[in-house]
Amino acid sequence: MAGEYRLLLENAQQLVLVCDRGEKYLLQAAAERLAVLRHASLVVGRDGYIKAVGQADAIRNQFSGASFERVIDCSGKCVLPGLVDAHTHPVWAGDRVHEFAMKLAGASYMEIHEAGGGIHFTVEHTQKATEEELFNTFKHRLERMCQAGSTLVECKSGYGLNLETELKMLRVIEQAKRSMDIGISSTYCGAHSVPKGKTATEATDDIINNHLPKLKELKLSGEIHVNNIDVFCERGVFDLDSTRRILQAGKDIGLQINFHGDELHPMKSAELGAGLGAQAISHLEEVSDEGITAMARAKCAAVLLPTTAYMLRLKQPQARKMLKEGVIVALGSDFNPNAYCFSMPMVMHLACVNMKMSMNEALAAATINAAYALGKSDTHGSIENGKQGDLIIINSSRWEHLIYQFGGHQALIDYVIVKGKIV
Ligand code: NIG
Ligand code: FE
Repeated sequence: MAGEYRLLLENAQQLVLVCDRGEKYLLQAAAERLAVLRHASLVVGRDGYIKAVGQADAIRNQFSGASFERVIDCSGKCVLPGLVDAHTHPVWAGDRVHEFAMKLAGASYMEIHEAGGGIHFTVEHTQKATEEELFNTFKHRLERMCQAGSTLVECKSGYGLNLETELKMLRVIEQAKRSMDIGISSTYCGAHSVPKGKTATEATDDIINNHLPKLKELKLSGEIHVNNIDVFCERGVFDLDSTRRILQAGKDIGLQINFHGDELHPMKSAELGAGLGAQAISHLEEVSDEGITAMARAKCAAVLLPTTAYMLRLKQPQARKMLKEGVIVALGSDFNPNAYCFSMPMVMHLACVNMKMSMNEALAAATINAAYALGKSDTHGSIENGKQGDLIIINSSRWEHLIYQFGGHQALIDYVIVKGKIV
């Protein structure tokens, strides 16, 4: 049905803005004072962007006589920004449930990795999978993320390692970008592990001399547009020097730096990333105090991944210290065969319980700050006039239930909306 506007959400019990226009870079402040409107309505235009948000009566007057493609009565419910998942590895083949059993029996992540399991196992299966197989499982995973409230998701390659399979993964991500409603920020992660039979230096040279020029060519021809570059900067994987070379070469072809650092060992990844102008660094369980200061100063977001610390029984990242020092703290699910979690509500719950974040901080970290980590906080991550109409409606009169309840979110989330369209 044609309408002047795409969507009217009417009379929400609580409408959580996350932050007000003009404060969009005060991401840390936003976490402390979320703006919550009561009895509020919201209008999304036919272009998918938010046209008005305010008290229900005022919106009713302002839009009296206007026509809407869809009207949803939100009485007794809450409207929140769509959740943003700032870190996922969602394209892969092969099942690693057996490794979960090994970990429960006491094996560490690196022991499994060094014995040829972990990322290597997934690489072997992903290299053999067809593009169609990869797309179908990836699509299903994105649908599950969306059902759990995510409307923008960062998606990495990194289970190919060789150029052919990395490109296969990136094509699959590009196909989803073009055919699905959920927003995607794509990341080239060819330096996720050192391929068997190569040294880290050889792998680094291959990436710089062969992979990145190819990505540049594909971007120019419009075939694949990658947004970010990632490296697993870790002892026994890519050291600081290789990481620096790869990230700088990625930056030189226009990719945003967003990488894995200081996860299992202190590597000074945070110091490196801040110096290189990284948009974000993920994990940071082992970050140094100097690294935290450098990230705060450089406005480099920390993407914390509570599922990883939980699954691997690692020490928790120091969220409180980072917040105190003024770091922009974001959250991600880290969905991958090691941390099989699609749900950002679950991630927020873990961040609150295990990392001692408040619910306000966790929501800001899973919306506006996660959007910032992807360089998209101008258009995503909060409810403001002019931003993309990405929203969720929950069947509760208090928004905090999205974090308080754990598990079974499908019954709590009534609608997930991308650009004003119900998905
Ligand atoms: O973020 N740390 C490196 N990468 C992933 C794990 C990938 C895997 O085990 O397949 C992570 O946790
Ligand atoms: Fe990861």
